[in-house]
Amino acid sequence: MVSCHDTIVVLDFGSQYTQLIARRIRESHVHSVVLPSSASLETIQANRPKGIILSGGPASVTSVGRPEWSKAIMKEGLPILGICYGMQLMAQSMGGRVGRAKRREFGRAELLVQDGSDLFRGLARKSPFSVWMSHGDRIEKMPPGFKPIARTSNSPIAAMKSVNGRNRLYGLQFHPEVAHTTYGARILKNFVRHICGARPTWTMGSFLHDSIDRIRRQVGGEKVFCALSGGVDSTVAAAMTHRAIGKQLTCVFIDNGVMRKHEVKQLKQAFRSFHFNCRMVDASGQFLRALGRTTDPEKKRRIIGRQFIRAFDREALKIGNVRYLVQGTLYPDVIESVSHKGPSVTIKSHHNVGGLPARMKLRLIEPLRELFKDEVRVLGKELGLPDDVVHRHPFPGPGLAIRILGVVTPARADMLREADAVFIDELKAQGLYRKTWQAFAVLLPVRTVGVMGDQRTYEHVIGLRAVTSVDGMTADWAPLPQPFLAHVANRIINEVQGVNRVVYDISSKPPSTIEWE
Ligand code: XMP
Repeated sequence: MVSCHDTIVVLDFGSQYTQLIARRIRESHVHSVVLPSSASLETIQANRPKGIILSGGPASVTSVGRPEWSKAIMKEGLPILGICYGMQLMAQSMGGRVGRAKRREFGRAELLVQDGSDLFRGLARKSPFSVWMSHGDRIEKMPPGFKPIARTSNSPIAAMKSVNGRNRLYGLQFHPEVAHTTYGARILKNFVRHICGARPTWTMGSFLHDSIDRIRRQVGGEKVFCALSGGVDSTVAAAMTHRAIGKQLTCVFIDNGVMRKHEVKQLKQAFRSFHFNCRMVDASGQFLRALGRTTDPEKKRRIIGRQFIRAFDREALKIGNVRYLVQGTLYPDVIESVSHKGPSVTIKSHHNVGGLPARMKLRLIEPLRELFKDEVRVLGKELGLPDDVVHRHPFPGPGLAIRILGVVTPARADMLREADAVFIDELKAQGLYRKTWQAFAVLLPVRTVGVMGDQRTYEHVIGLRAVTSVDGMTADWAPLPQPFLAHVANRIINEVQGVNRVVYDISSKPPSTIEWE
């Protein structure tokens, strides 16, 4: 579909930052499309780009079989910006020389701007400023017709531009898209707005409008299914789809018996108020029976995943003829699922229904695939979802089962639920909930000695975990105020039967993970 917005095409050479480029362009209110670097000339042209960005990538332009692109588009005289690998590729194809740098350069460097006229418009006086480098190759000889426009101590050609010829070509050796590059967003904005002249018409509202339109055309009159977890991602994806196709969408919420206190009731109310056609399935007995006396974290995950698919399958059969499945997959999930870390530590909510699409021959609708979590929250607001849904902390598919260390029993689940509810209620009451990315209690599989009244006790330990993070891939423990922690610990020990000790987790990720199992 050709967009009604002025569009920047980003060609992806495999950098983990490619979607960040798209995100920065969105922040300038300009529409962008990410295409694989192998996209054909026709595909690129079909998007009627106002400019093109060549992303970075892990390959070396000096190696055989390096990824290439449809260079013929250059005949159209569009502005082109090459970033890192993209810059080197451009330099080499225009007659420059690229070689292995004597010293590979990773991390911060100070950039000195030499030409503040267009790409660095408004930035000459601010230089030197920090930029983020990540490269092993560098340009040894500039292509004819180019001049350097910025340098660092290690890279004499940290940025370049063409000075003659029809095209306006630019190259950056560093990554303007990452937060560590101080004026990176400004550099990209200069490119898309001033050099390409793209009009700033993109907003979350326009994204919503376009996505709804796309879902309608994709689905036609078919039936669509959505597994709601109550988390922000699946709820926003469902709300968008619901707005697009109304009653053709059936949502299923499966109560696995290891949800938080009052959560099922609250979600029931929320889904009703959104007017979703939602089936609430109580499968708690079945899940708890299947968990039995399992203690191994990975086994717990697998058991819950299997039970989930079984319960979901049953619902799908009841409805019949379902063709599509809506998933709230986000961009970091896409990146994680192709990472080399292995599924157990990288698993995300959408993986909990991972087996379903192939098995049920369902086609996927993933309207949030390009977005980051904070963008999804903005979208949720745009859709009119209430704050407590939009700002809800992430919650893992296997629920409290992976926060009850050891055997999961209804009694242990209740104990954890009570302690967790005290912690979360207090975070909300003290205005700390939205300052943390995720917070929860865990029940440890040990008992310790205490004294209550004049009695010796031998009871359970609750661990409190609160982290700050951007995307859950890395995280730091949240330095919650000491009086707050003291108050929460006091309440838990006094109010939750069976608990006589509370500890606070001060580990970051890595080397720990956010969850304890
Ligand atoms: P970790 O513990 O790996 O968690 O640092 C990172 C984020 O992912 C969530 N998480 C899961 N989500 N199914 C999910 O849906 C899972 O099996 C799972 N394991 C971890 C975790 O809560 C955190 O937000």
